[in-house]
Amino acid sequence: MKNKRCAQIISTGTYVPEPVMTNKDFEKFLDTSDEWIETRTGIKSRHIVPRDKHVAASELGAKAAGIAMKRAGIDPDQIDGIICATFTPDSFFPSTACRIQAILGCSCSFAFDISAACAGFIYALSNANALIVAGNASNILVVGSEVISKTLDWTDRSTCILFGDGAGAVLMQASEQNGRGVLSTYMASDGTLGDILMLPSWGEKRTMKMKGNEVFKHAVRMMSDASLRALEMAGINMEQIDLFIPHQANIRIIQSVADHLSIPDEKVVLNLQKYGNTSSASIPLALDEVWNMGLIKEGTKVLLTALGGGVTVGSSIIRF
Ligand code: ACO
Repeated sequence: MKNKRCAQIISTGTYVPEPVMTNKDFEKFLDTSDEWIETRTGIKSRHIVPRDKHVAASELGAKAAGIAMKRAGIDPDQIDGIICATFTPDSFFPSTACRIQAILGCSCSFAFDISAACAGFIYALSNANALIVAGNASNILVVGSEVISKTLDWTDRSTCILFGDGAGAVLMQASEQNGRGVLSTYMASDGTLGDILMLPSWGEKRTMKMKGNEVFKHAVRMMSDASLRALEMAGINMEQIDLFIPHQANIRIIQSVADHLSIPDEKVVLNLQKYGNTSSASIPLALDEVWNMGLIKEGTKVLLTALGGGVTVGSSIIRF
């Protein structure tokens, strides 16, 4: 029997800007404390692009994607497409993906952005998977890149303390190894919840607005549901999952989802203490970290899940 075409993640790459902002730094200009931020969110520090310098999402994304290409031994002329998830694009157009293509010198057939906020990486991965399985591409760079610090209201203590800047990328490649690669992807959205988390565009003050408690409540419910749907679609159960890589939003959201799904602590991947919430970059940043630690081996099964503004939600099961 002929093996079915599937998509595998063959490498990862990340890039975060150098400047680190600690919780203590916020104490200098906000009525907050290191203790409050760490207890309520799990975050200790985050990387932030220099405040006085223009740094674009494409610059961070291209660095992360370049590392992923190099690690995989794939040249720019072998890349068929670039999909970039971002809610902080360089411009409405050209897309950030097109700019990354230009920086890396890739001879792609397509490059486009996806707008699904913090669920963007899973939406991008789902699209890349579908394009590879359909035979439209063999090598796709999937990038999540954000310069969120430029969108924050630095006087809003319940929002600005949560986020960080950074980029993560994976290289997805066509394969015919049955039972490996992306086993399932699930995406959903609920536009009626759009106002719980938003970044306005035209004619309004362009800073992020968030109803934190509402986001918290829906995140736990929707990320848990999406995870169960992805497991069902892959035909496996939770006990078979080796690593749970959730969007790194808030440690209490992650713990609640893990409790709902009965996932033991040792399988839950956390790195939000160092990076904060980096939106579409958070899952590839965490995946890269466990890969570098040697926790991704042949056969390792990983559950990814994320919720973002929209509201958007997604989950995916990958067997390496
Ligand atoms: N320092 C000190 N006090 C603060 C701070 C702060 N940085 N921020 C808020 N407070 C105060 C509030 O003003 C409030 O004071 P009050 O009781 O006098 O009114 C008190 O702390 C409690 O506020 P809550 O909003 O109830 O605090 P909560 O424990 O819910 O934590 C938080 C707030 C951290 C925003 C939480 O709701 C959260 O993380 N929500 C999810 C938001 C999120 O992750 N968004 C990311 C985008 S979507 C995604 O990625 C999933």
